[in-house]
Amino acid sequence: MKAVRLDRLLANLGYGSRREVEGLARAGLVRRDGEALRDASQRIALEPDLSARMTVQGAPLDPLPGVCLMLHKPLGVTCSHKEAGPLIYSLLPERWRRRDPALSTVGRLDKETSGLLLMTDDGALLHRIIAPKAKVAKRYRVTLARPLQGDEAAILASGELMLEGEDKPLLPVEMEGEDATHCTVTLHEGRYHQVRRMFAALGNHVDALHRDRVGGLALPADLPAGEFRILGPGEIAAVFGG
Ligand code: URA
Repeated sequence: MKAVRLDRLLANLGYGSRREVEGLARAGLVRRDGEALRDASQRIALEPDLSARMTVQGAPLDPLPGVCLMLHKPLGVTCSHKEAGPLIYSLLPERWRRRDPALSTVGRLDKETSGLLLMTDDGALLHRIIAPKAKVAKRYRVTLARPLQGDEAAILASGELMLEGEDKPLLPVEMEGEDATHCTVTLHEGRYHQVRRMFAALGNHVDALHRDRVGGLALPADLPAGEFRILGPGEIAAVFGG
């Protein structure tokens, strides 16, 4: 079991500088199983249930490093640390922005795309999900500006569609039409603005885009836009299934 110094654990979770968290501990504001941990230099075993057993200033400890969450990305927020306008990080508790290792998005959704976005501070997990060989499929619900012509599913499945400015055709994409202007597409790779550029190549235009599935993990109907949920091991495994 990995163990870390209490001051380092709390400082890396964003609770303050090493000196500040030392002050919290000394004041009896850091507790495990109800008992004050006053010595900030003591080593704490990173047991999986630590966040439930430990409190800081009366509130449960934030999730330990190695967290993965799913966020229902609303329209109008950007998956970036630096760009102007509302950022995805503003949807997380303020303290979490000071975590080290930092939480990153697993891939990106455009500012004007909503839906399931994963975030993690686990670099190895992030790479396992986005690695092309993992072939984690992503499903999008698409609203089109113009009616489908009828040949789109076959063209997308052919593995021959070329996007403007690229020299390699897209991998086959599964498309299911819902009605004249709505369909779902399942991608097995992730190129820049792929869905929008794909439909542009087909002579159409994407009016609205929503991701509802990453691998075998679906965006739950009871997770409202702008909210997030920490994933358990079973849900993380589901990303690699389906
Ligand atoms: N394809 C797009 O065009 N935009 C996204 O956000 C994701 C996939």
